[in-house]
Amino acid sequence: MAEFYFNPWDPQFRADPYPAYRVLVEAPPRLMNFGATIAIAARYVDVAAVLSDHQHFTAVRPPDLPIARRGPFAGAATMLTSDPPVHTRLRRLVSRDFTPRRINDLGPRIRQIAAGLVDGIAARGGEFDLVSELANPLPVTVIAELLGVPPGNYDEFKLWSDAVVAGAARTQPWEEPPPEFLEAVAKLRGYFAEEIEKRRRAPGSDLISALVAAHDDEALNSEELLAFVVLLLLAGNETTTNLIGNGMLALARNPEQLELLRREPELIGGAIEEIIRYDGPVQGTARFTTEPVNLGGAELPVSVPIFLLIGAANRDPAKFPAPEKFDITRDPNEHLGFGTGIHFCLGAPLARLEGAIAINAMLARFPRLRLADPDAPLSYKGSFFLRGLSALRMRID
Ligand code: HEM
Repeated sequence: MAEFYFNPWDPQFRADPYPAYRVLVEAPPRLMNFGATIAIAARYVDVAAVLSDHQHFTAVRPPDLPIARRGPFAGAATMLTSDPPVHTRLRRLVSRDFTPRRINDLGPRIRQIAAGLVDGIAARGGEFDLVSELANPLPVTVIAELLGVPPGNYDEFKLWSDAVVAGAARTQPWEEPPPEFLEAVAKLRGYFAEEIEKRRRAPGSDLISALVAAHDDEALNSEELLAFVVLLLLAGNETTTNLIGNGMLALARNPEQLELLRREPELIGGAIEEIIRYDGPVQGTARFTTEPVNLGGAELPVSVPIFLLIGAANRDPAKFPAPEKFDITRDPNEHLGFGTGIHFCLGAPLARLEGAIAINAMLARFPRLRLADPDAPLSYKGSFFLRGLSALRMRID
């Protein structure tokens, strides 16, 4: 087997994992030791097989993992970290709120928020940071409005949610998490516990109120209710921010694709899928074996964590012709960037809509949009699993 390298806690690996993926997709899953044995799966067939088989590969985290016990869900079941029948019960509570139809109704409001942010960039002119001026504020505003949280607090809980993601990324799952992570978890949970109490006294038409009603109908216990709200905030925030950031970078580095999209904005649907395939916001996820199992020719023991390298699978040449090419007209494009199977991303319609509105608004408004300095080094946030830029300097003049 060829020499390979995989270390999600190595900043250099995280900055550009793609050369390592090229080696990883050439072989069956491998066992590695990071103080504990883990398996990694990179080939498209292996990653898709695990995501589609919740009987052999559970999404439930072992209860003794510090990061599960002391993390933002405090060990409570969430749809992301459960199997049927719990997963079915939890997902059913919100599935109607995230259908493409219901999400499309948010289009006018998302366009309005995006237009306000783009106006701000236009007014200041010259050079700007795409991440802080558009990619951060748009998703946090949209998800907070869906949850029904007052606008004054967005900045604050964006900070906490960033600190939770960054803290989780620095820690190996079997280590005790650092104090700043625990502090951000406590603040985030305390804040939403209070928001839940407010809805109990005065329900509204927002998602938190709907979940409080589900709790009152006994479809959700108190711990699950709080974890549910925190999951929606965390899942809806950073991912979409990174879609906009990674997407603008890929377009700016492939000017002929950018010009094509500018000329034919209706290609945006395919462009979003290609961004998620080519440099997706979610590079990986995890499952645990429920029994000894053969995966793609590799024998895996029971209870071993499997890191599923979605970003590698999405560049597997066995699945995608010319996988290193960024091509917004790629068709078919059956990437795994939103997962597959029962945990397929609940927020995919929302992420697609926000990404499409944000990117097309920028291209329509700024005919000279480009990187401020194409040779400047890029800086990434600290997570391997959630890949995103901490800043992206661009110019409009
Ligand atoms: C481009 C942006 C996004 C990407 C790339 C993305 C990616 C993913 C992936 C890969 C999964 C599956 C994880 C697994 O199987 O372990 C997932 C699940 C999930 N996503 Fe997203 N996501 C995005 C945006 C959103 C948004 C905006 C929301 C809004 C609420 C959201 C909510 C969720 C939830 C709740 C789950 C768990 C679903 C389940 O377990 O049944 N995501 N997402």
